[in-house]
Amino acid sequence: MFISTSVNPPFLLRPQASGISENDWGVLSRFWYPVAYEHEVEDTPVAAKLLDVDLVIFRAGDEIGVALDRCPHRHIKLSAGTIVEDGIKCMYHGLVFNTGGQCTFVPSIDPGTKLPATWRLTSFPMQRRYGLVWTCLAQETDRDVPALLRDEDQDASRLLFVKARIWPVSAARQMENFIDLAHLPHIHSESLGGDPDNIIKPGNIEHTEDGIIQTAGYTEVPFGSTPRDVVFTYRVVLPFAIDFIVNDPTGGDQRTCNIPSPRSADECKVFQFSIDTRDMDDARRSLLNGWDIINQEDIGVLRHLAVPDLPLDARHEIHLPADNVSHAYRQRLREFGLGQ
Ligand code: FES
Ligand SMILES: [Fe+2]
Repeated sequence: MFISTSVNPPFLLRPQASGISENDWGVLSRFWYPVAYEHEVEDTPVAAKLLDVDLVIFRAGDEIGVALDRCPHRHIKLSAGTIVEDGIKCMYHGLVFNTGGQCTFVPSIDPGTKLPATWRLTSFPMQRRYGLVWTCLAQETDRDVPALLRDEDQDASRLLFVKARIWPVSAARQMENFIDLAHLPHIHSESLGGDPDNIIKPGNIEHTEDGIIQTAGYTEVPFGSTPRDVVFTYRVVLPFAIDFIVNDPTGGDQRTCNIPSPRSADECKVFQFSIDTRDMDDARRSLLNGWDIINQEDIGVLRHLAVPDLPLDARHEIHLPADNVSHAYRQRLREFGLGQ
């Protein structure tokens, strides 16, 4: 009923009811994550959730602001408000805040009144990269938005955005699903092709400064087209981003980035985009358009996950030869101090 008088404002960002441990939240909050596609942030506020923290993303002209989704006056969600010329307007008493978080207008007081600098939102840093709006919840961080694309591939007009969906699994589980080779012919036989009886050899694993790279051959049959031997390269950027390249000797390479933004311990919002290489053939293009189908095939299985948390101790699960990538991924997550 009441916020205890023993709680000093500002409130801690991590909600007490968060399913992410205090330790893991502290580690994960130092990284940058996408919270919206830039093209979605237009004339209405966008609500998002990151590590159990409710956020609002809003635009004023060319500027975009990211803030706690909570009006500092009487704690109404700002995402229920409206966009005005200067920024975002709260629906309750009409206070307006600019993208820097400062209150710039209060309709019910004398217009000449100087507004205190403390009348401001809890704002977060914002970067636009790869057509996405990124933010970081930590007050201080030495991290940056993950390096995913070569400079020449960063032209947003060449990026094809896949519909962002909320997956009912943790970001870490979504990452492991994306790099898991052995599930491909079982779950994606109709979209990607593959024979469930084939032996899946472990991919080649290389450790890099910011993650791992898995390389593996695969015979794919995209949406029933002619089978082709391709090479999959998964460049994992820790903790939650993948730059996935399909080297196709006959149909033109395809590059897709997969970034599950961690909403909570058991939910993530997955942003994906591909590069339109122009020289893609029809089969390659249909596969590109098919990412949403592939995602729904994965979600159909992962919604049955009995344990949403990712075990960082190998003894909790049994492992197949092709799970060497999962082993490497978990090892690198442990090195951040996660799961302690
Ligand atoms: S609660 Fe937002 S203006 Fe009063
Ligand atoms: Fe999959």
